[in-house]
Amino acid sequence: MKILVTGAAGYIGSHVVKQLIEETRHDIAVIDNLSTGHQSTIDTLNKIFKDTRDGEIDFYVEDLKNFDKIREIFSNSSFDAVIHFAASIVVPESVENPLKYYMNNTVNTTHLIKLCNEFSIKHFIFSSTAAVYGEPEVSQVIEATPTKPINPYGSSKLMSETVLQDASKANENFSHVILRYFNVAGADVQNRIGQSFPNATHLIKVSAQTAIGDRDKMMIFGDDYDTQDGTCIRDYIHVDDLASAHLRALEYLSEGNSSDVFNVGYGRGFSVKEVISTMKDVSGVDFRVDIAPRRSGDPATLISNSEKIQKTLSWKPKFDKLRLICETALNWEKSI
Ligand SMILES: NC(=O)c1ccc[n+]([C@@H]2O[C@H](COP(=O)([O-])OP(=O)(O)OC[C@H]3O[C@@H](n4cnc5c(N)ncnc54)[C@H](O)[C@@H]3O)[C@@H](O)[C@H]2O)c1
Repeated sequence: MKILVTGAAGYIGSHVVKQLIEETRHDIAVIDNLSTGHQSTIDTLNKIFKDTRDGEIDFYVEDLKNFDKIREIFSNSSFDAVIHFAASIVVPESVENPLKYYMNNTVNTTHLIKLCNEFSIKHFIFSSTAAVYGEPEVSQVIEATPTKPINPYGSSKLMSETVLQDASKANENFSHVILRYFNVAGADVQNRIGQSFPNATHLIKVSAQTAIGDRDKMMIFGDDYDTQDGTCIRDYIHVDDLASAHLRALEYLSEGNSSDVFNVGYGRGFSVKEVISTMKDVSGVDFRVDIAPRRSGDPATLISNSEKIQKTLSWKPKFDKLRLICETALNWEKSI
C-alpha cells in the first residue's frame, strides 16, 4: 500500500513513520509544512529507511491550507490510506486564537477527507484526543463517555471526528479509525527521534527540560485535588505504543473492518508528583518545583479505559513503564 502521512515531521507522526518503515513494506509519502516539525526529523527517518530497506519517503513541504497544491499531490500519487497528524495542538493558544484551530484542524481535515473521496482513497486514520471528553464526570472514560470539549482545540478535533463519521456513513468504500490519545510522552528507545517542539506544555517533557537545566524550575498546577497526593492524575502512554496502535488500525481497516473510534492509553494513571519524582530519580537531579494555583479545565483524574482497542485491534502495549517513559524523554532532551 502507499500511505500518506500528514504531519510526520512532528512528534507522534515521526514515530508512526519509523514503525511503518521498520515493520511494513508500505510506500510512504509525507506532507508537512514544518511549522512545528523539522526537516532533520525527515532526514533521520530517511536514514532509518536506507538502513532498513530500499527507497525513501516522498516528502512534500506543503501547507494543508493550500488546497490546490494538496490536490495536485493527490492527483500525482495513488494513496491507499491517509494517516492524519498535522494539526495545531496547544490548548491555551486555541483559547486565544480559536480560528487558527478551526481552520487548521477542522477545515483542513475536512478538505483532506473531501480529497480522499474524490480520489477513491479507502482508509483514513485520525489523531484525536482525550480533550474531546472535556471534564468527564467519570475518572476512567470509555469511548461512549459523553464528549463535551471545553476548549477550541478539543472542539476542533471533535468536529473533525463528526465530519469523518458522516463522510464514512455516506460512502461505503471509505472507512476510518479515530484514535483518541491520552497523555503522550517519551521518545524512541534508540534516541533517534523525539519531541523537539521547545514550547511544549507536556508534563514529562517540561520535567525533562527542568532536569537538564533548560528551565530554572517547573510548576505543579494545584496540589489540593481529591487524589492521593493532591495532584492531578493522568494516563501517560509511551509514544511508540501509541504509534503501534496506528499500524494495528491500518491492518484492521485493510482487512475490511468497519469504521470505529478507540481510546489509546494504558488504563492507569500517575499523579503529577509521581511523575516529577520519577524524573528526579532517573535524572539524579533534585530540580526546583513550585506549587501554582489550579488551571481551569483540569479534571482531577483522567484515565482511559482501553479495553476496546486491546480487544478489537489486538493492540498490546510494550513500553508501559513510567520509568522508561521518563528515561527516554530525558535522553532525547539531552540530545537536542
Ligand atoms: N502530543 C500529544 O500529547 C497529543 C495528544 C492528543 C492528540 N494529539 C494529536 O496528535 C497529532 C500530532 O501531534 P504532535 O504532538 O505530534 O504535534 P507536532 O506539532 O509535533 O506535529 C504536528 C505536525 O504537523 C505539521 N503541521 C501542522 N499544521 C500543518 C499544516 N497546516 N500543513 C502541513 N503540516 C502541518 C507540523 O509542522 C508538525 O510537523 C495532532 O493531530 C494532535 O492533535 C497529540
